[in-house]
Amino acid sequence: MDGEEASLLCFTDGKTICPMISSQDHKRAYDGDKGPNTGGMGTYAPAPVMTKAMVDKAYETILIPTIRAMEKEGRLYKGCLYAGLMITEDGPRVVEFNARFGDPETQVVLPLLESDLVDIMLACADGTLAEQDIQWSDGAAVCVVIASGGYPKAYEKGKVISGLDAAEKAGSLVFHAGTAEKDGQIVTAGGRVLGVVAKAADIRSAVDKAYDGVAKISFDGAFHRNDIAHRALERL
Ligand code: GLY
Repeated sequence: MDGEEASLLCFTDGKTICPMISSQDHKRAYDGDKGPNTGGMGTYAPAPVMTKAMVDKAYETILIPTIRAMEKEGRLYKGCLYAGLMITEDGPRVVEFNARFGDPETQVVLPLLESDLVDIMLACADGTLAEQDIQWSDGAAVCVVIASGGYPKAYEKGKVISGLDAAEKAGSLVFHAGTAEKDGQIVTAGGRVLGVVAKAADIRSAVDKAYDGVAKISFDGAFHRNDIAHRALERL
């Protein structure tokens, strides 16, 4: 399939389906979408390629038929459904489904949720999602993944990470993906180590703020992409 990828997650109680804010991952390891495929080097939300018309189309042609088909098969689906989409010339097409929140998409979607997630998830379980008034921020969020040198191939672990508090003081939310505690210090323990997230009124400000946070963090061999959200910025 040719086109731009986007992710559209939804809450559902098996009947009512509430799409979340769209997002876009960056799968390649290096700037300019070069290099090997990874588990995701960064995300941003919302994804401008997912216009309201495109979200409506994905809702009508993908989310509703999928949830209804599962109900018809006697497999009522409740919780979060993740649709990985390709936005082709003919509209949205499914790349993958995940029966869970996505990583690193969730790191940018949930910070934009203004309603209480617990109320929404309880309503999914209770079958009362239609009664929920789910509110989203008008702003944007960006996540920059900091990875271990060598990832997605072989990489070393156990590198001491510094600057976590400074990044949080600068306004970032730092999610730990591949870290561990050793002798009172936080060290690397995976390929994708941290997701540094910033939320702001617009995508440009969110990008700048996320990279301010990234600049505060260091460990031996750390690398990250410098062009997260480039497709959104090119559209400004
Ligand atoms: N980002 C896709 C996933 O969580 O599998």
